[in-house]
Amino acid sequence: MNRQCYYLIIVKFVIINELELMATTKNVSFSYQEFESPAELETEDQELIAAAKEVANHAYAPYSRFRVGAAVRLESGIIVRGSNVENAAFPSGICAERTAISGSVTNYPDDKPLAIAIAAMTDEGLTAECISPCGNCRQVIAEEEMRTGKRIRIILSGRHKIQVIESISLLLPLQFCRNNLRVNLP
Ligand code: THU
Repeated sequence: MNRQCYYLIIVKFVIINELELMATTKNVSFSYQEFESPAELETEDQELIAAAKEVANHAYAPYSRFRVGAAVRLESGIIVRGSNVENAAFPSGICAERTAISGSVTNYPDDKPLAIAIAAMTDEGLTAECISPCGNCRQVIAEEEMRTGKRIRIILSGRHKIQVIESISLLLPLQFCRNNLRVNLP
């Protein structure tokens, strides 16, 4: 390593250390509700969970054998369902949440989603634990919240518990959104 390179590394190290000293620590925390059975929820939410469980049976998941169902309740009361659809070219597969959101945006563009219920099954039946949307799906649900200006309640349903999160933004803090695209535009 030549001498110039060596000095550059030292200067970089000093600057990074200085920046760390000036940093303020911020915390992100959020609250959600937990229930033991669907019976503890409003009838509408119970219906949505039942729809998510039912549509998990329609999943095409020969590769993972993990079948997921998602049900979106729209403002009008309509329920749009989706399941995961896998593909031999693995990345071409799609999750249940995105299938459901794509279906609601495509078929009812002006009817705003208010809630999405998610349930999953293995060969042994419904999962005991709740399953939570993957990063891609969180991003897509966040875009939909942004597009409609309405919060979307996330209802995660396992055999032993149900978790209700009041908005996808809680599951995706510091999210990348359309406003960020404009920052560097002339
Ligand atoms: N999957 C979903 O459909 N939703 C999730 O929230 C997590 C994962 C699907 C993708 C894939 O088909 C299978 O579950 C295993 O990851």
